[in-house]
Amino acid sequence: MSNADWQDRSRSALWHPCTQMKHLERTPPLPIARGEGVWLIDYDGRRYLDAISSWWVNLFGHANPRINAALIDQLSRIEHVILAGCTHAPVVELSERLAALSGLSHAFYGSDGASAIEIALKMSFHYWRNAGRPDKTGFVSLQHGYHGETLGALSVTDVALFKDTYAPLLRHSHQALSPDSRLAGAGESAEAYALRAAADLDTHLAEHAERTAAVILEPLVQGAAGMAMYPPVYLRRVRELCDRYQIHLIADEIAVGFGRTGTLFACEQAGAKAADIADFLVLSKGITGGYLPLSCVLTRDTIYAAFYDDATARGFLHSHSYTGNPLACRAALAVLDIFAQDDVIAGNFLKAALFNERLSAVAGHPRVRHFRHTGMIWAFDVADAAPGFAAEFHRRALRHGVFIRPIGHTVYFMPPYVIEEAEMHLLAEATLACL
Ligand SMILES: Cc1ncc(COP(=O)(O)O)c(C=O)c1O
Repeated sequence: MSNADWQDRSRSALWHPCTQMKHLERTPPLPIARGEGVWLIDYDGRRYLDAISSWWVNLFGHANPRINAALIDQLSRIEHVILAGCTHAPVVELSERLAALSGLSHAFYGSDGASAIEIALKMSFHYWRNAGRPDKTGFVSLQHGYHGETLGALSVTDVALFKDTYAPLLRHSHQALSPDSRLAGAGESAEAYALRAAADLDTHLAEHAERTAAVILEPLVQGAAGMAMYPPVYLRRVRELCDRYQIHLIADEIAVGFGRTGTLFACEQAGAKAADIADFLVLSKGITGGYLPLSCVLTRDTIYAAFYDDATARGFLHSHSYTGNPLACRAALAVLDIFAQDDVIAGNFLKAALFNERLSAVAGHPRVRHFRHTGMIWAFDVADAAPGFAAEFHRRALRHGVFIRPIGHTVYFMPPYVIEEAEMHLLAEATLACL
């Protein structure tokens, strides 16, 4: 079977995500036969550098031998078991390790990122109800924030293209000013602007705290907003506001967790541990190194304790069939082993410095605006981008052997951490050629 065969069959049998299917007439899906490190390889044998880690999930490359070995071992033990009424070693060990790393002691599992957002929203609401404050039902998120596409998650998302059609199905939430550093005024530092954005949140909470359950945000980088970056001081200030007004802080680290921003959890850049910032830490994507769907909401003892009771209805009765899947948890444990054994955070710091050097010509290109970088995420905006820019850039990059999906006029890289110097060079050269 060739690429063309799989493309035809895919178009007639599937309904692809986040896709206007008619557009596939012009840009058919790339049929991937196998993967190897940062490379995706199609059925005709062509290789593409996976510059966006397969929707931000892959950390240590495709077909990673260490994660593969863990999964093969787990397959011969138990592939899945119900987590209501049963438990198993991978889920217990993973929960203990995540608690030690984050400072948040209890782990509740979902499948994809959006399911974990639903869990965090429901838990926050239910906590206040159990705590005798049933009026605290509202949620505040940030302008241009993204938290997933299920109805609850979409209610706190602020991306018109994904949200507007479904508006009649959604619950109202308030969007506070985004701390996106690109919005700083002339002569205003990123920090000063972030504090101005926090003051906007303060104004809202001062009036609505009694009816607000939680603030939800993406720490340091608003991914779907076009890799909008902001400094840690914003997180510290939001934490202070949440303490002052008795509101939960839900840190959606689905995209930015597991080393993406240069620390294991992005919140660590604003506090010693994630628990110093987040009441709920939401994780997914990189948690399994991009192998299997798994998500997790970590929270603290005091919140957990409000549900611990003889009355069943005071408990958190939410569930998903594949909650805490043993294979996914084993992949996650293998990922944590790699972080510990290879000192990944320190290694990424050096890699990021190298890639910044490689990208200097891109950063200085006359069409490039707001070249920015946080940890293992790079982005820039393209001045004078014509309508259809993202799709056209994507097609051109494929011709140069690079898989990239710009967001509007923003081009970004989120490569797997195993990217090598020669591959960084290729990515920079391909980007320049496309520009
Ligand atoms: C910050 C953030 N939250 C939530 C989600 C939703 O995760 P999922 O697509 O796994 O449902 C995403 C996905 O990109 C995300 O980036």
